[in-house]
Amino acid sequence: MILPYIYTISICALILAIRFMSSPRSAHSGAIIGIFGMILAILSDFIPLPQHFIYLIMALVCGATIGIIAGLKIKISSLPQMVAILNGFGGAAAVCIAAGDVHMFSPSLDCGGIIGAITFSGSIIAFCKLHGFSFFQKTSISHHTSINFILLLLTVLSTIMFHCHNEPLYFSVMIFLSLLLGVFIVLPIGGADMPIIISTLNACSGWTSVAIGFAQNNLLLISIGAIIGVGGIVLANIMIKAMNTSLIKLFFHPKINNQTTDSPNKLAQSISPQDAAFIMQNSAKIIIVPGFGMAAASAQHALKNMADLLRNKFSVDVKYAIHPVAGRMPGHMNVLLAEANVSYDEVFELEDINHEFSETDVAYVIGANDITNPDARTNQSSPLYGMPILEVSKAKTVFFIKRSLKSGYSGVDNPLFFAPNTYMLYGDAKKVTEEIDKFLEQ
Ligand code: TAP
Repeated sequence: MILPYIYTISICALILAIRFMSSPRSAHSGAIIGIFGMILAILSDFIPLPQHFIYLIMALVCGATIGIIAGLKIKISSLPQMVAILNGFGGAAAVCIAAGDVHMFSPSLDCGGIIGAITFSGSIIAFCKLHGFSFFQKTSISHHTSINFILLLLTVLSTIMFHCHNEPLYFSVMIFLSLLLGVFIVLPIGGADMPIIISTLNACSGWTSVAIGFAQNNLLLISIGAIIGVGGIVLANIMIKAMNTSLIKLFFHPKINNQTTDSPNKLAQSISPQDAAFIMQNSAKIIIVPGFGMAAASAQHALKNMADLLRNKFSVDVKYAIHPVAGRMPGHMNVLLAEANVSYDEVFELEDINHEFSETDVAYVIGANDITNPDARTNQSSPLYGMPILEVSKAKTVFFIKRSLKSGYSGVDNPLFFAPNTYMLYGDAKKVTEEIDKFLEQ
C-alpha cells in the first residue's frame, strides 16, 4: 500500500510550495517543489494500473501539451486571463467527473458538479471581461438578484428530482441551470470588483475538488482542494479589505458595469519626456506607481533602467509603490517588477508608503489610473468609493504616463488628471519611459 505515502509526500510538497511562494526570494524554489508534488499526484493515478490506462496517458499528453503551449505563448500581461481560464478548467473537470459517475447518485458529486459548473461559466465570463471584450464589460442585467435566486431554487429542485427519480436527465438540467447561474452571477459585476470575483472563483474550484474527493474517497483531492479553497478565501478576504467592500455588497448590489469614458471637455496639462526627465533628474525623491498599463506595454525593464539611472547618476531616492489591486491579478505588479530584477527592498505596499507622498518631488504614475483616483475617498456616488488609494496627489508633481485621458478598468473618470500639479505624458508606457531614459543617459 504505497498510495497513502505518495499522497502524504505530495500534499506536504504542495503545502511547502505555498509556504515558499509567500516570499519573492523563495518563490522559485516553491515553484519547483510544487511541480514535484504535482508530478507525484499525477503518478498516483497509475497506482494500481487502471485497466484502460492508455486513455489516461492520452488525456495526460493532451492536457500537458495544451498547458505547455499556453504557458510558453501567454504574454505575462495576459496572466490574469490565464488564471481565470485555469479556474474554469478546474470547474469543468469536476462537471466531467460528476457526469461520468452520474450512476452513483452521490450528493457530494452533485455538489461538485453544481459548484464546478458555476465556476466554469463564471470563469469564462471573467476571462472575457479581463480580455476586454466590450460586450461582457458593458452588459448589465436588471433584477439579477431575483434571477439568481430563482435559478438557485430551480437548481436545488432539479437536484431533488434527480435523487427522487434516479433520472440522469435531471442531472443535465441541474448542470445547465448551474452554468446559467455562473453567468448571471459574474456578468453584472464590473467596476473595480473583478479581483474579488477571481479569488472567489479560485476558492470555488478548490471546494469543487473537495466535494468530488469525498464522493470518490480520494484523500489527495480532498486535501489539495481544501488548500486551494482556503487559499482562495484568504485571497478574496484580502481583496475585500483592500477594496473596502463585502461579498454581500458585491453579489447583491454590484457597482455599475464598465463604461469606458473619455473626458473631452476638460483640458489637462501635458509635458514632454525631455522636460519630465529634466524635472526628475533634479528631484530628491521619486515614487513610481505602476498599474495595468505598465503590464500592457511591458514597460518594467525600461522603468527599472530609469530608476537605476536616476539613483546612480543623479542620486535620487527612488521607490516603487504597489496598490493591492494594481493591474489585473493579485501580485501582478510584483511579478513584473521581479521579472525586471527590481530589488524587493525598493518595493513598498500601499500602507507602508502612502505617508511618504507628501515629502515626494515626483509621483511617476505609469499606466495606473483607478488606484490613484481621489473620488474613491471623496465622492460617495463613485463606484470606487471606499477603496483605499495611493495618495499621489500629495506629491509636489504628478506625472501620468498613459495614452489618453481615458478611464481605467472601472470606467470612471479620474479628476486628478486636471489637478494643477499633474502633467500628462501621453503615449505608450514603454516608449515614453525609454524616451526619458534616453534623455537621462545623455
Ligand atoms: P486601470 O485603472 O485599469 O488603468 C490602467 C490605465 O493604463 C488605463 O487608464 C490606460 O489608459 C493605461 N494603459 C493601458 N495600456 C497602456 C499602455 N500600453 N501604455 C500606457 N498606458 C496604458 O489600472 P490600475 O490603476 O492598475 O487599477 C487596476 C484596476 O483593475 C482596478 O480598478 C482594479 O479593481 C481592477 N482589477 C484588478 C484586478 C487585480 S486582482 N489586480 C483584477 C481585475 C480588475 P489609456 O487607455 O489612456 O492608455
